[in-house]
Amino acid sequence: MRVEFTLNGRKKSVDVEPNQLLLNLLRDELGLTGTKYGCGIGMCGACTVLLDGEPVLSCLTLAAEVDGKTVETIEGLGEGGSLDPLQEAFMETGAIQCGFCTPGFIMAAKALLKENPEPTEKEIREYLKGNLCRCTGYVNIVKAVKSAAGRAKH
Ligand code: FES
Ligand code: FES
Repeated sequence: MRVEFTLNGRKKSVDVEPNQLLLNLLRDELGLTGTKYGCGIGMCGACTVLLDGEPVLSCLTLAAEVDGKTVETIEGLGEGGSLDPLQEAFMETGAIQCGFCTPGFIMAAKALLKENPEPTEKEIREYLKGNLCRCTGYVNIVKAVKSAAGRAKH
């Protein structure tokens, strides 16, 4: 079936299989490998993207579901040469070690800051509890999100 949607600000029109997952469409067909394939079963958050501004797990979302909608991936951030405040904050606070979980955390945090521009540490931890990191122990990730909160654009 033909699916038309907006991907990182650009119109896309692609043929998808009825059972094709959004994660596979993004990574395998559209070459956007920033969205990570972690568990594949909705447990880790590495595949988080924004669908009409809401965080969704692309490993549990059918490609067909994005028809007529807007999808944002990590590749859509920092276009035009300037990093998103969340990207800057993650680098500054050392919230990245292997980096595998980072795109998912940043996309989820982006949705959080849009909804709640000044979240408390508890609210950050609660919102991001579906995103798992094997490396950092979360302290610096929470610091990064707090640091990005209140910066110019989310
Ligand atoms: S890859 Fe989607 S939640 Fe783990
Ligand atoms: S930085 Fe390695 S999994 Fe999070």
